[in-house]
Amino acid sequence: MEDIRGKIKSELAAGDLRGYVEDHARSPHPYLETIRKNCLAHKWNFMLTTPDQAAFLYSHASLIRAKKILEIGTYYGHSTLALAAALPADGKIISLEHNPKFAAIAQSHMDVAGVAHKVEIRVGEAPLLMPILEQEQGQGSFDLIFVDADKRHFKDYWESGLRLLRAGGVLIFDNALARGEILSDTPGTADHIAAVREFNDSVRSDSRVYSYIATLADGMLVAMKIGS
Ligand SMILES: C[S@@+](CC[C@H](N)C(=O)[O-])C[C@H]1O[C@@H](n2cnc3c(N)ncnc32)[C@H](O)[C@@H]1O
Repeated sequence: MEDIRGKIKSELAAGDLRGYVEDHARSPHPYLETIRKNCLAHKWNFMLTTPDQAAFLYSHASLIRAKKILEIGTYYGHSTLALAAALPADGKIISLEHNPKFAAIAQSHMDVAGVAHKVEIRVGEAPLLMPILEQEQGQGSFDLIFVDADKRHFKDYWESGLRLLRAGGVLIFDNALARGEILSDTPGTADHIAAVREFNDSVRSDSRVYSYIATLADGMLVAMKIGS
């Protein structure tokens, strides 16, 4: 099998170091490697979560015994599968994706991986689907929410996510370090970097959560909802 370690993403750890990190993450599901291989030729493969992120997501979902998970940003279904692998047989992950082609690819991956019964991929714009979910699923109904899309809407996802999340549940946002540019001070800093920076700052001062940024891949902001 072709060695694809370190070829997809290299932000905080690059080259051999990234390969080393990926090598030391136990895969939560054997089909994850096939998804990575299938994605390698795609021009946006940098969007794919890494093996250590998959292990990170899996372990968080397992630790809190998640039964219901929401994901924003499905792409090829790599993180969807990692999270689905942590769910019990009657658990469920709803994943939102606005690109129907990606949703179809991810669905076929879920079918082959044998987790389709636990996964529901919804096609549409997440900012429009979230309020529908709130009505349909009810507040406090999710154990874990993973946001991996569309930095401009991070704040909306945050507020809606906090309503959808149960107390003690976990919100995880990818790309908290804006591809390593979070500290960039050049004039005209790109909008998306400014948006992530503003978002990180607002989370730090949000007393509804206990939060930190885990420095793996491009930085994953983890927030546990406080309350009983
Ligand atoms: C970074 S990728 C997700 C990667 C995936 N979580 C993984 O494990 O590899 C982001 C995905 O979000 C989707 N997306 C971007 N904006 C969106 C929106 N407003 N609503 C729904 N999906 C969106 C993109 O089409 C893309 O597939």
